[in-house]
Amino acid sequence: MGVSIRRPLLPLLLFLFPLLYSVSVLHQRWNPEETKRLSPKKPDQVILGPAAGQGLPNRLQCQGTKAMNRIEPSPKNNHSEEEKVSFVTVFAIYKSDPMSEKMLDRVRVGDILYNSKSERSLAILNAYINFIQVSMPSSDVVVLTDNDSTFSLDRNNAIKFPIEGDYSRSNLMLQRIKSYIAYLKRILESSELEKANKNIIFSDSDIAVVDNLGDIFQKHPDFHIALTFRNNKNQPLNSGFIAVRGTRDGISKSKDFLEEVLDVYMSKYMGASRMLGDQLALYWVIKLHLPSAIQKFNRHESFAGKVKGVSVLFLPCAIYNWTPPEGAGQFHGMPLDVKIVHFKGSRKRLMLEAWNFYKSTFNVSNMLCLILCSGRTKYDF
Ligand SMILES: *[C@@H]1O[C@H](CO)[C@@H](O)[C@H](O)[C@H]1NC(C)=O
Ligand SMILES: *[C@@H]1O[C@H](CO)[C@@H](O)[C@H](O)[C@H]1NC(C)=O
Ligand SMILES: *[C@@H]1O[C@H](CO)[C@@H](O)[C@H](O)[C@H]1NC(C)=O
Repeated sequence: MGVSIRRPLLPLLLFLFPLLYSVSVLHQRWNPEETKRLSPKKPDQVILGPAAGQGLPNRLQCQGTKAMNRIEPSPKNNHSEEEKVSFVTVFAIYKSDPMSEKMLDRVRVGDILYNSKSERSLAILNAYINFIQVSMPSSDVVVLTDNDSTFSLDRNNAIKFPIEGDYSRSNLMLQRIKSYIAYLKRILESSELEKANKNIIFSDSDIAVVDNLGDIFQKHPDFHIALTFRNNKNQPLNSGFIAVRGTRDGISKSKDFLEEVLDVYMSKYMGASRMLGDQLALYWVIKLHLPSAIQKFNRHESFAGKVKGVSVLFLPCAIYNWTPPEGAGQFHGMPLDVKIVHFKGSRKRLMLEAWNFYKSTFNVSNMLCLILCSGRTKYDF
């Protein structure tokens, strides 16, 4: 009996299949959220192109996703040499209209489907924490966030650190510097300070740390606060990376310095585009107190100076920080000693792809080749 029912099923399915298929295609055509995902303009998976910088000295050399000339980062071999650092980042999830977020923002990366922008920004934050765990296993991450934020962070090397404030999108750059200052104040007040003596790196969370950054503190033993600069007339100072020495002096001087930057921000740059205010304020403070620094921003060497008694170290962005360039213009490859990869804008997806690739190979150097080879692609993310 059962057999006779099953028999006609296959021919029936074969007959129905084209019909079902065309209905589903029709459904996709009529479904705007599906159409967006299927848009052919931006790829939704890693696209490998040629690796830039092949044959150039001091650049990563790749054969496909195989690194030919980069030794794996050292901390894995010797933990006791690693400088412990607290990575501190500001993170907020925006409450958005649930209707507009529903389906529209679905994106798949590897095996995971992200249903909303907030799921994706949380995934980026987790990837940031993952990379630190791999590259600097004795370091930890402190996530400064709104005191009523609800996201959970179930990680053993990361904690949420609530600091109240206005973390709305339009206020985020101002809030970021306020939260940094509040964090430094709390550390100064805490009795743990003398024991911990832990250096601090404030950074954006859309970066992958791929080597030990703690050696900044060893190589340059005298600074209180370190900033990175680039050869860019209007925004030579990058506020996305600030290192603070974890001594009482280092923390308190850095707090004073950032308070001055905050004052300038609030008195002069509140009208600036929300992404720029803090960088403009940082530049203004340096120009006022250390004008000799300005001419050095087009060079490639680090240098130091005093700003109202605060020892400031200036590090060239190019040494440590590599950003996959926008578009297909000049592209000189990836420095061999890159320590940070910064995934801006449409490259954020590449950060998750890179982490997936790392998880399947456990080889940071090869992962850098993947990043280098797909660095020009703008992903749908
Ligand atoms: C990573 O991959 C490179 C290139 O294939 C290889 O030379 C290196 O030994 C690998 N490192 C580890 C730790 O497996
Ligand atoms: C690790 O580094 C410490 C401190 O520099 C050194 O004493 C130790 O011998 C190193 N261990 C290995 C296995 O290289
Ligand atoms: C967060 O701060 C606000 C303003 O001070 C306060 O009213 C609220 O109770 C705080 N929430 C938490 C969870 O601490």
